[in-house]
Amino acid sequence: MRKAKIIAEKDYRIGKIDDRIYGSFIEHMGRAVYGGIYEPGHATADEEGFRNDVLEMVKELNVPVVRYPGGNFVSAYNWEDGVGPVSARPRRLELAWKSVETNAVGINEFASWAKKVGTEVVMAVNLGTRGVDAARNLVEYCNHEAGSYYSDLRKKHGVMRPHKFKTWCLGNEMDGPWQMGHKTAEEYGRLACEAARAMKVVDPDIELVACGSSNRGMPTFGKWELSTLECCYEQVDYISLHTYYANQAGDTANFLAKTLDMDRYISDVVSLCDAMGAVKKSKKKLMLSFDEWNVWYHSKGKKSDIWTMAPDLLADVYNMEDALVVGSMLITLLKHADRVKMACLAQLVNVIAPIMTETGGAVWRQTIFYPYSHASHYGRGNALLTLTESEKYDCRDFTDVPYLDAVVTEDNGEVTVFAVNRGEEEMLLECDIRGFGTYTVKEHIAMYDSDRYAVNDKNHPCRVTPKKDGNAAVEDGRCKAVLKPLSWNVIRLSCGAYEL
Ligand code: AHR
Repeated sequence: MRKAKIIAEKDYRIGKIDDRIYGSFIEHMGRAVYGGIYEPGHATADEEGFRNDVLEMVKELNVPVVRYPGGNFVSAYNWEDGVGPVSARPRRLELAWKSVETNAVGINEFASWAKKVGTEVVMAVNLGTRGVDAARNLVEYCNHEAGSYYSDLRKKHGVMRPHKFKTWCLGNEMDGPWQMGHKTAEEYGRLACEAARAMKVVDPDIELVACGSSNRGMPTFGKWELSTLECCYEQVDYISLHTYYANQAGDTANFLAKTLDMDRYISDVVSLCDAMGAVKKSKKKLMLSFDEWNVWYHSKGKKSDIWTMAPDLLADVYNMEDALVVGSMLITLLKHADRVKMACLAQLVNVIAPIMTETGGAVWRQTIFYPYSHASHYGRGNALLTLTESEKYDCRDFTDVPYLDAVVTEDNGEVTVFAVNRGEEEMLLECDIRGFGTYTVKEHIAMYDSDRYAVNDKNHPCRVTPKKDGNAAVEDGRCKAVLKPLSWNVIRLSCGAYEL
């Protein structure tokens, strides 16, 4: 049996975990909104047309923020189309996904859904086909109390209290040639700076996310961040990162190692931000918003009809192996809790999502639902500096990949070990967390399957679920557990004599 070790000390912290790292994302695309969260004819639909079965499942995830309305969608979106009487809203050609947008759901409806779910909206503005004016008007419409054209318009639309959205994204993936209104870094940096200035004059309490690169593999990665931040470092609060991983070659070892790329990506962006902070002699330390991350490849290349309403886009069906990568991505975010202050699993319903629905029918949890839910519930508080000792392997794209990927968190006397066994052998894990005094195992949740490609679907919604049959136990003051091959583990410990 392979052996591995974790050492964590209660006073050695990476940082406080910002709850918003467990955010998610709803874009107007595919069946995320129409047929996902919103389906007026559905048996569980409420008076506004929102599916209650979906709403309840989203609540289970304990999602603190949801980014909206895109994504690529936002870069040609006119927010005004989605407010006011629904019967008067235009049907538009939606350019990013070549669909038809009816605008039956817009900002006010989405804000109402978010309230029901108990989450905050992270609003994105269109800096593709539009600019400063539309952005500052949107802030006025959403956040200004009353007594101005757009705040009064909102009131006329029946929304008396301002939404007070706190966090705003300045466009989406503006470095990508696929983006409507794609820009050079200099063009985007200037626009982001001026939009930010105007938006913060309207509401000085908002926080802004500038677009970083669409992923680390972009040819302009690095230069994009530097040139953009050169223009808007002092005006923004976060820079975004996006990444999606795939296992196109059916190579499990390589797929599970992809989080080494994510780890490096975060460190690189931290360095780029700090370099610009140094050049500017700024007092500000820029934080990171990893506002799109997930596994995405099962649906790639799938054709769908164009110019239809709510086509079945990006409906990836996730397997056990994908859940391990998602677990490992969550561990990676926690390892950078000092700088990553917001993150959004992309997306939430039907489109590369943990939750799937059938139109007029059922809702079910995909495999990736579970690691996301575990981290969101048990990974709060502080992330601890976690030293790991583990054998390593080499694969196609990476060398020295530890079989064990793990991080430890602590929250008011509860210590949680999140661990992925990347190997195909059992692993004896020893956790040395003696600084916490005496402790007991509350539970050891383990998710594994003899078939790494097993999935949940409409007919088998519970084919792959976590089990509470982990064998973690405390022995001689150390927590020991045998981790199943290719498994996701959550070991929850209660500390008796715990003092901060
Ligand atoms: O999440 C799907 C798409 O991926 C988003 O619209 C875009 O921002 C990214 O490229």
